[in-house]
Amino acid sequence: MRILVTGAAGFIGRWVVGELLARGHTVKAVDNLVAGERANLAEFAEHPGLLGFEEGDIRDAAACGRWTSEVDAVAHLAASISVQDSIDDPATTFENDVVGTFHLLEGARATRARFLFMSTCMVYDRAPGSAGITEAHPTKPASPYAAAKLAGEALSLSYGSAYGLPVSVVRPFNTYGPFQRSVGEGGVVAIFTRRSLLDEPLRIYGDGTQTRDLLYVEDCARFVCDALLADVAIGRILNAGTGNDVSINALAAAIEPDPGRIRHVEHIHPQSEIAVLRSDSRLASELLGWQPRVSLADGLARVRGWMAGRLEAGIPVA
Ligand SMILES: NC(=O)c1ccc[n+]([C@@H]2O[C@H](COP(=O)([O-])OP(=O)(O)OC[C@H]3O[C@@H](n4cnc5c(N)ncnc54)[C@H](O)[C@@H]3O)[C@@H](O)[C@H]2O)c1
Repeated sequence: MRILVTGAAGFIGRWVVGELLARGHTVKAVDNLVAGERANLAEFAEHPGLLGFEEGDIRDAAACGRWTSEVDAVAHLAASISVQDSIDDPATTFENDVVGTFHLLEGARATRARFLFMSTCMVYDRAPGSAGITEAHPTKPASPYAAAKLAGEALSLSYGSAYGLPVSVVRPFNTYGPFQRSVGEGGVVAIFTRRSLLDEPLRIYGDGTQTRDLLYVEDCARFVCDALLADVAIGRILNAGTGNDVSINALAAAIEPDPGRIRHVEHIHPQSEIAVLRSDSRLASELLGWQPRVSLADGLARVRGWMAGRLEAGIPVA
């Protein structure tokens, strides 16, 4: 298939591009490079399946129409992804995550392209107790980012109901791995690993008892490709997670052996924090046969090795 990947030069996007190319598809890669980097796609530059990279913006309706007219499917990952940025500047998150999604859906509607909307586990309401979060768990827009993703989900699914567009929605839990940024809310594993390698203190927001279900990025990329291409995923919302959560305190200890370098600081947005985030991804396992393959210990070691290699080579780690 010819597949458009938006946000292709971003962290998860570049792995999705790699996975699609490895499966023999051809890929049109698009990103406005606000957070992504061209260099993230360097590995695939000579791949015959890469139809090219275009620096472009999903807020541009005409561009979205042009891109979607060239493909059979859309993996829509481009987004503003920071909770804090969405609180500081909700307009930008709304424009990117809702309006941009609308333009792409309109393009897909015209050409009947399959459409995958990349949502997030941050749409879920707090989950008391020990059970994992299923897709039936109540949602709660605790930030403009979560609200924008819920709006994007609803819009996408509405194109399935109203126009019969083959749409699927994925809600990944916290994803980590090589190429993730370590600035801002780039990702807790990337931030902690960078600080550990640079002998800087690790700073934990709040008491560190909040938990996350950490999904290795190659497992996430396989999930995205499966959900985009499998008919059983059409019209579905699917959780992507491991089913295991780890507290931020335990994660810090796994990354930084010296407890003296681990500090607790005041939370920057406690009102949007979710205390326990653990996926129940059994629906996806049943429908797609998907299972995570990379353990947390292995994934953390891969991130450390990748980042150490970059720092040694003098490549800046953002
Ligand atoms: N990283 C995670 O833990 C995680 C978890 C759940 C969901 N997600 C979702 O996965 C997707 C990818 O996230 P990521 O972690 O790779 O973040 P990322 O910031 O690395 O990737 C997003 C990409 O979108 C691009 N982009 C932003 N606005 C754009 C616009 N208007 N036009 C074109 N490109 C634009 C950015 O330049 C960036 O490369 C996002 O939709 C995010 O919400 C991520």
